[in-house]
Amino acid sequence: MTQRPYHIETMISAKAIAARIEDLAKEIRQAYRDTDKIVVVGLLRGSFVFIADLVRELEMNVEVDFLEASSYGSGTESSREVKILKDLRGPIEGRDVLVVEDIVDTGHTLSAVLKLLQSRNPRKLETIALLDKPARREVDLKATWTGFEIPDAFVVGYGIDFAQANRNLPFIGSVVFDDEVPEAGGKA
Ligand code: PRP
Repeated sequence: MTQRPYHIETMISAKAIAARIEDLAKEIRQAYRDTDKIVVVGLLRGSFVFIADLVRELEMNVEVDFLEASSYGSGTESSREVKILKDLRGPIEGRDVLVVEDIVDTGHTLSAVLKLLQSRNPRKLETIALLDKPARREVDLKATWTGFEIPDAFVVGYGIDFAQANRNLPFIGSVVFDDEVPEAGGKA
């Protein structure tokens, strides 16, 4: 299948992301101030850039682990099957955990991951999402910390892909298809 031609417009610059991460890191340090070491869990694959920048701003003792989940089914189903493709390497029982997600869309992925991790009895379980698309939510859930709330646009970059491309863009961009013409008859 040939790819529809598209271009990418900057939605959130690399500078704005870095500034927001600095602020978020301060809040997280404060929230985990009574913790010797936190377990930072990145959800693959989209969070790999965000988690790398975040942990370097945290300036605390962190253990880094990863989990990969994949959800199946159409976005309109109220319950989707979320499969764990790669589980954590380490135990989290009694530990202070921070789950790092690139984007919360319908909320199914994060909801299923939290349910799984909660069943392992961590001492503390919080979440951070760089992006939040509240307009798409199907599960009542909000990350403890959110970088940016965004509209229901098709976003890429900073870890997020479009057909497995563009994850390496240093900013968040929105995909604009070149054959999409503005609606005719718009109000003057
Ligand atoms: C994306 C994103 C989140 C999830 C959010 O992952 O990274 O994990 O979807 O969607 P939801 O809130 O509707 O569940 P994706 O399955 O595309 O995998 P990837 O991270 O490997 O790109």
